[in-house]
Formats: sequence, structure tokens, C-alpha cells
Amino acid sequence: MRLRPEASNSQLSGIGEVRLYGRGKEGIIPLWVGEGDLSTPEFINNAVRDSLAKGETFYNYSGGEPALKEALARYASKLYGRALKANRFYVTGSGMQALQVCFSMVAGVGDEVIVPTPAWPNAAGAIQVRGAKTVMVPMPFGNNAYTLDMERLEAAVTPRTTCLFINTPANPTGTVATLEELKAILALARKHNLWIIADEIYSRFYWRGDVQKRNDAPVRAPSFQDIREEGDKIMFVNTFSKNWAMTGYRMGWIEADPSLGGIIENFIQVSTSGSPLFLQRACITALDEGESFIQHQIEKAKASRAVMSKILKATGRVRMVEPDGAFYLFFKVDGVSDSRKLAFKFIDEAKVGLAPGTAFGTGGDEFLRACYLRDTAQVEEAANRLAEVIGRL
Ligand SMILES: Cc1ncc(COP(=O)(O)O)c(C=O)c1O
Repeated sequence: MRLRPEASNSQLSGIGEVRLYGRGKEGIIPLWVGEGDLSTPEFINNAVRDSLAKGETFYNYSGGEPALKEALARYASKLYGRALKANRFYVTGSGMQALQVCFSMVAGVGDEVIVPTPAWPNAAGAIQVRGAKTVMVPMPFGNNAYTLDMERLEAAVTPRTTCLFINTPANPTGTVATLEELKAILALARKHNLWIIADEIYSRFYWRGDVQKRNDAPVRAPSFQDIREEGDKIMFVNTFSKNWAMTGYRMGWIEADPSLGGIIENFIQVSTSGSPLFLQRACITALDEGESFIQHQIEKAKASRAVMSKILKATGRVRMVEPDGAFYLFFKVDGVSDSRKLAFKFIDEAKVGLAPGTAFGTGGDEFLRACYLRDTAQVEEAANRLAEVIGRL
């Protein structure tokens, strides 16, 4: 039997490989995947129980329960300080499915998608399975930061380019695009008639102190929402996974111009045919009542970030991106170039699971990623163990 090249070429991600190696090993502190240590809060889970008790187990709208679309519109309008109507929102089974659907609309065989790297590998994976080409454009690292290099981005545009994938705050680097940088990217997209798939799922985890609080709107990172105009070709992907500790729910959403609504709903129809209504009820509760839980997660991430960054820096052997957002520390150890090998060594000798930089495309090969959205004492313990091994290298 002959498989499509997209199928034969598909590979286990570098994160998956390390995780497989470390899984089940006694005493490992798992900082390799992008999730915290809290399970979903009970007030959110209770909404599922109530819904099931009511027998809400039937087929539902493929693009999402209207009450959830309304809740998304309320949440996003407040967060971005602009009126966003419910007909801009489409519910998906995870942020990952949101990406799949968006890429399905703009990237197929013969098309190219530009991805500034280092970047979260699943985006490239979703492009690859559609038969499109991921054009990774490594961003330069200097002065302990990755910077957005617009010249490199523009040089990567070809007549086959259909789309830019922009993730800010970024996984794995924690880099956050400024408003000026977002404007430059939008100008590039307008000039070459490209789509932007905007992945701003970490926007609530924003550490720069430059936030002007707008009325009672929560703190967040700069967004394409701040600059987009009518007719701009931007699709936003988002997820319930991170803000509300709902990774296992597999629930997300797309926000896009309502003119795309019919297509998005059809694409969802022919993949999952919609998300379970009982999970959507929990998402409504999360959006309407979950603000103090998000604040709790933010405080925890802030404290853990400070502790980890301090301990690793004190080794004198580590260069790192001082993250402005998300909940990852991306660092490299001086004199070590093989991050994959080092990730295995950290499992064996520090009992700490990290993701190797090789998993995130070009430009971050020597780095490792640690997710710090965990109990601060545990993150401190992990950082001390890492520092001890680093001291012996
Ligand atoms: C940048 C980015 N986008 C999207 C997602 C998708 O999250 P999920 O599929 O859990 O909704 C993740 C998950 O780690 C991510 O890091």
C-alpha cells in the first residue's frame, strides 16, 4: 500500500521523544510539556456534571453552541477593548484543531507558510500534513533575547507564500512582539496579500511592565486586535487549555471574519462535527467565572519564573531569554551544543524533564525549554537539580 508523502514523512516531535524516554521514571519533575500542575477547577467541572445530568449528549451545532459564542464575545470584547460579535467565534476541539482548520483554508500542496523560529512544532506539523511547505525563518538571538528580523521574514516570501504563522507571546522562547512589530508584520501581510494566522493563546501570561490598564480590562500582551482593520486577512486561534488549566478538555476556538463562518463550520463538520455540548457548558463557566483562577495562575507563573531564572543564572554557565510572556524558560548552557543529549542527561542525572531546542525548528538547537507553570517550591527544586548537573558539566 502506498501512503501519501505527508503520511510517510510525519515524525514524532523532539518533545515526544524525550518524554517517551523519561516517562515512568521515578521522581521526574516534568517541565517538558506546556501545561501546569493544576487540574481543572471544580467550579468548571461542575458545569459538565450539570449538563450530563440534564442529558445534553446529543449532536450540536458544528461551529459551537450559541451561548458559548456569546460568552466568547463577552470575554474577548472586554479583553481587547473592542466590540467583537458572537458571529466571529467558532468553537473547536482544541487550539490544535483550530490551527488545523485555519491551515486547511489557506495552505495545501504547493503552498508555503512562513513560520519564524524557534517555534512550537505542532504548527509546522499541521502545515506538513496538509502537504504545504513550512518555511522556517530563524530569528536572531543576541543580548539574551530573540529579535524579530523583518528583513529575513520578507526575504522568505515567494509567489507560493500564502500565510504567516505568528505566535506571540511565543512558545518556546517567551518572546512577545511589541505593537510596532505587530504593525510591521501586518504591513508585510498587506503588501504581499498574505493571511496571518495569529496564535495569541498565551496573551494573559505577559510579564513586561509596560501595560497601560484600560478601565477594568485585564492585563494582556499586545495583539493584532489592537491594530487590525476591516478587511485584514487575520484568523485568530485560541484555546481553553492554558488560562483555565483545561488541557485535557481539548477545547479551543477560532475568531475570524464572519464571511468565513460557513467554511469554518463545514470544515469542523467534516472533521469532528462539533464539540460535546457538556464540555462547551464548562467553557462558558470558565469564561464567565474564571477570572480569579487565571489571576492565580499568573501569580504562580510569575513567582516560579523569578525563582528558576535566578537559580539558573547563578550557575554563571547559562544564557537565556528573559521571557516577556508565556510560561517557558528557554536557555542554553555555555559549551554544550547538543540539547537533545543534554535533555536525556537531565532526565538521568537531575530527574528533570525538559524539551530540547532541536524540537522547535531552526535557530534554537542549543537551547532547552522548561515549562514553569507549576508549584514554585517544585520549580525551585527542579532548578537546583539542573544547576547541580550544570555545575558538573
Ligand atoms: C503556541 C501554541 N498554540 C496552540 C497550542 C494548542 O493548545 P491545545 O491544542 O491544547 O488547545 C499550544 C499548546 O501547547 C501552543 O503552545
